Amino acid sequence: MSLKDKVVLITGAGRGIGAGIAKCFAVKGTRVVITDLDQESIDATAASLDTDAMGLVADASSQQDMGKAIDQVIERFGGLDILVNNAGVGGPKIEFQEFAAESGLLSITDEGWDEQLRYNLRTNFASSNAAIPRMRDGGSIINIASIAGLGPTPQLPAYGAAKAAVIHLTKTLALELAPRKIRVNCICPGLLWTRAWELLSARMKEQQKELANLSPRQIFEMVVAQSTPLGGEQTPEDIGNLAVFYSSDDARMITGQIVSVDGGIRLKGGR
Ligand SMILES: NC(=O)c1ccc[n+]([C@@H]2O[C@H](COP(=O)([O-])OP(=O)(O)OC[C@H]3O[C@@H](n4cnc5c(N)ncnc54)[C@H](O)[C@@H]3O)[C@@H](O)[C@H]2O)c1
Repeated sequence: MSLKDKVVLITGAGRGIGAGIAKCFAVKGTRVVITDLDQESIDATAASLDTDAMGLVADASSQQDMGKAIDQVIERFGGLDILVNNAGVGGPKIEFQEFAAESGLLSITDEGWDEQLRYNLRTNFASSNAAIPRMRDGGSIINIASIAGLGPTPQLPAYGAAKAAVIHLTKTLALELAPRKIRVNCICPGLLWTRAWELLSARMKEQQKELANLSPRQIFEMVVAQSTPLGGEQTPEDIGNLAVFYSSDDARMITGQIVSVDGGIRLKGGR
């Protein structure tokens, strides 16, 4: 599929990785739909793209919201070719709601567990369910999971479980949608300086005395240096470039695949 004039919908694309993915598709001439929870960030990202773009407020964990968003996409662009399930919440606390902090299984309440699964797994299910019946055959779905879904991170049991389920769902959907030639693939990002890591490193600074003299950014850089064989953080464009490849004709025989974009982090410690 040539990406020019095709239509991609990216959830949670008001900022961070989703905004980077939007930029990579825009460069290819793909028409871009950005959904997120916050109108201001959606408008700013949509306006920054050098392509035909539209922004819509929609909770990716709600089939109803996503169904309405897709109605508007079909009305404006006539169809939908690519869905990127990017919306997710990895940080300890999120502005749009009080989000349960994870610091080990025993710290999690029933509500905290449900929230993590809602924002990191139901998002994927609800958006896919709303989009698939309306997508054109021959399209592509890309799920953004995490390296935390491939191996254990003791501080993030619910997030890790949700992302592991996203990986599983990728393979299930790839089989289910193969007769329609819709390919379904997954990307596991490593360490990116987005809002989630700003919050996480600020919390590490609060909790660990030996980090008190470092800024959150310096803490992140230290984590990257300690854990990344290739020696650098990943960028939203690193993730976007793979999303573009997965959606292109060059990947026409690739489906159900899980690729880490992590500078080799998972090679260390046998993860
Ligand atoms: N940053 C990292 O190091 C990292 C690593 C691995 C995986 N990831 C994954 O990448 C994805 C993007 O993360 P990010 O780092 O860009 O985070 P971010 O917090 O910077 O951006 C996430 C965006 O998603 C939106 N969002 C959250 N829940 C939503 C919902 N239910 N409906 C619509 N929008 C929603 C937020 O408003 C925000 O704009 C997430 O799935 C995350 O788990 C991030």
